[in-house]
Parts: sequence; structure tokens; C-alpha cells
Amino acid sequence: MEKKYVHGYTPRESARLVDQATTLAEILHHDTAYPAGSRVLEAGCGVGAQTAILAGNSPGARFVSVDLSGESLRAARENVDAQGFANVAFHRCDIFRLPFADESFDHVFLCFVLEHLPDPAEALSSLRRVLKTGGSITVIEGDHGSTYFHPDSAYARRAIQCLVDLQAAEGGNSLIGRRLYPILRESGFRDVSVSPRMVYVDSGKPGLVEGFTKNTFIAMVEGVGDRAVRAGLTDETDWGRGIRDLNRTTGEDGTFIYTFFKGTARK
Ligand SMILES: C[S@@+](CC[C@H](N)C(=O)[O-])C[C@H]1O[C@@H](n2cnc3c(N)ncnc32)[C@H](O)[C@@H]1O
Repeated sequence: MEKKYVHGYTPRESARLVDQATTLAEILHHDTAYPAGSRVLEAGCGVGAQTAILAGNSPGARFVSVDLSGESLRAARENVDAQGFANVAFHRCDIFRLPFADESFDHVFLCFVLEHLPDPAEALSSLRRVLKTGGSITVIEGDHGSTYFHPDSAYARRAIQCLVDLQAAEGGNSLIGRRLYPILRESGFRDVSVSPRMVYVDSGKPGLVEGFTKNTFIAMVEGVGDRAVRAGLTDETDWGRGIRDLNRTTGEDGTFIYTFFKGTARK
């Protein structure tokens, strides 16, 4: 059941997911809180980077966090236990074959998962089945097409495009943020609302330079370098220039901008 996906399951990727979640916690999660007693399904929890934030923000809610990867689930359990949260249960299962009864959750949450799935609308329909009528779904996704930076560089843009192309070749869509609204509607949800969450980084915000531009975004792009070269999407020289130019945006006069999209809807 362990399945390959574009970012892989390496220790470096696990650290990147935790950096990403911690750095973006305020921007992405400040308005996510579940009432005490409610039962929440987190789909595609990975190493639990978002789980710990959700559990901490809603201590009275009970979370069931699921993922395909047994290894990621073990890391997630350790992460959540280490932070002392007792309100999370973990299950290994596939979003497309959820082992839960119809209408058994009050809320559903997923973050950075649809972008990796060949049929995101089908995944949402599967999640909708286990959601109670009137319950809410919250979906957070990025959109690599929303990236711009200073100094601009065609090499850096090309390196990002390599990731977009590789992910597409694996059946994913790293430009999915802009499609959240139509996909949620297509999957039968009502009261759909999507809000952009822009991350703006300059050297006056050293926490974001490190936590977001370097350790989240550039680390993500760097992670596909070997595959991009092997696939003939770039060569080592151009790739090196692209990564060097992305790193220049973290300098004293550099800026880096990216937008996430957070959608909420009801069944
Ligand atoms: C980029 S990670 C995001 C993890 C976590 N939500 C976060 O934001 O840190 C995507 C996760 O989705 C999981 N995943 C992909 N397809 C899945 C499926 N069909 N069912 C369950 N989990 C899936 C992967 O195993 C991976 O852990």
C-alpha cells in the first residue's frame, strides 16, 4: 500500500513538512478550530506536521488522522505523543477506500494532499461520504504558479517548472490551489468559500526566509533535481543556476512571494 509520490518519504522531506507546518501555522490555521466533542477526520496526515497544530488548537475535539504510509504514520504518532496530545487516533488507509461508516465525522480536514492525487474530485466525494450532513470540510493547497520573486530569474522559474512537470507526470497537479473552488463544488459540497493566504518574505522577516523560502520551498524544489535531470527536463548546469538564483531571493535585497489557498465548505 506504500505509494510513491513526488516529494518522497525521506527524513529530509519529513523535516521539510514539519518546517512548512510550523512556519505557516498562523497564516494557514489561525481560523481553524473545532468544537469540543466533535469528531474530525484528517486525511493524508503524513508525519503529523499539521496534526499537532490541529490537536493543539482544538484540545476538546477528537481527531482520526489517516495516511497510506505506515512509516509516516509512525512518525506522526511520535510527533503528536512527544507534544503530549492525547486526542488523536491514527489509521493506515486509503482516502479512496475509507474504512468508516457513512456520516461518521463532524468535520474533515486535509492539507497538501489533493495536489498529489490523479482524481482529486473523487477523493473529495469519498471524504464527503463519511461526513455528516451539515458538517464542514477544510482543504488547504498551494499553487506553484503563484510564485514570484526578486531578483527574477528564468533559470529559477525553469527549476520550479521542472517540479510542476514531474508532479503532473505522476498524475498530480501542483497548480491545484486555483481549482479548489470548482473541485469542491463538483464534488457536491455547498457554501464553498476559498481564501488566498499569501506568504510575503523579505530579509526583514528572517524566520520566513529560513522556515519558508529556504526550508520549505527551495528544499522542495531541490528534492526533485536528480529526477528532473534524468527525465531530460533540465541539465545539471541549468539546474544548478536555478537553485543558486532561488537562493539569491533569500539575500538582503531579495523577496519571495507564494500564495496558498484555503477552502471551506459544507455537506
Ligand atoms: C505532502 S504530504 C502532506 C502531509 C500533511 N498533510 C502535511 O501537510 O504535512 C501528502 C500525504 O498524503 C498521503 N497520501 C497520498 N495519497 C493518499 C491516499 N490515497 N490515501 C491516504 N493518504 C494519501 C501521502 O502518503 C503523504 O503523506
